[in-house]
Amino acid sequence: MTRRFANRWNGGLTEADVTPKETFFNRRQIMTGAGAVAAAGLIGGPAAAKLTTVPSKYSTKDTPNTLDQITHYNNFYEFGLDKTDPSKYAGQLTVSPWSIKIDGMVDKPGTYALDDLTKGVTLEERIYRFRCVEAWSMIIPWDGFTLSTLLNRVGVQSSAKYVAFRTLERPSEMPGQRSNLLDWPYREGLRLDEAMNPLTILATGIYGEPMPKPDGAPIRLVVPWKYGFKSIKSIVQITLTDKQPETTWNMQAPGEYGFYSNVNPHVDHPRWSQASERRIGGGLFAKRIPTQMFNGYGDEVASLYKGMDLRKFY
Ligand code: MTE
Repeated sequence: MTRRFANRWNGGLTEADVTPKETFFNRRQIMTGAGAVAAAGLIGGPAAAKLTTVPSKYSTKDTPNTLDQITHYNNFYEFGLDKTDPSKYAGQLTVSPWSIKIDGMVDKPGTYALDDLTKGVTLEERIYRFRCVEAWSMIIPWDGFTLSTLLNRVGVQSSAKYVAFRTLERPSEMPGQRSNLLDWPYREGLRLDEAMNPLTILATGIYGEPMPKPDGAPIRLVVPWKYGFKSIKSIVQITLTDKQPETTWNMQAPGEYGFYSNVNPHVDHPRWSQASERRIGGGLFAKRIPTQMFNGYGDEVASLYKGMDLRKFY
């Protein structure tokens, strides 16, 4: 355990050196059960070596959810509709080797091995609020790096205005893809300035472990001021384009899910309110908490939408 912390926090510090005592003991409690999650095959691949991460200035102070909660209450329709389906069926997904095709308006298009894309990149631990459109939320300590790091490596051309993402399509390992539940592969997109914002990360792990499979191994997007469905999992393609990309939920139900999908307590989903949320792990009778505009990240991102009517661009 100590070696893992020394490794994770870089420079030989133990976690007690950099974390207040209460948080330290709290985290140790939270980490209990990580072995069980690994044993269940949910964390996988030869890349299961411990990751080295540095704490991020962008982290929230909220107490993170446990690894057990984070890996057993998921939306990952490639493995089924139920929140527990990914923990039951994602273990069979092969995540190594993994490559990502990067194409469109970039200087260096190509199919890159994940290891090459992340070589020399410093991973930060970013504890983010994560808010689902279904009005539940979690606090997740992601390990990741900014999407802008990757985009700068491949060189974005000046004509590009949007970034489109696609998930792996492999029905042999993804039972949900054997039905036409959604129009596969899962697709998402961001405006280029959203993609370049320092809050937008590609996450490759949680709690210093490689990304658990139910959460989108081996690499997924995390956009903390938007509803969870924008944070596409198990990415195999990134395309720079000048047209607003198709997105899975917008194609499925355009009246319910727009392209922007910023967390907004003032614009309700047509079938339910977005004004409050239920923190997973708080118990069935826990008080709902008011949802914050942009999920609480307004200082960092409100300027991206200046002058836009967010009722129209939901
Ligand atoms: N990515 C893919 N490929 N398939 C999915 O079904 N679900 C989205 C998003 N990314 C989804 C996906 C939704 S609806 C949410 S709320 C988040 O993943 C859930 O992320 P989590 O399970 O890690 O909490």
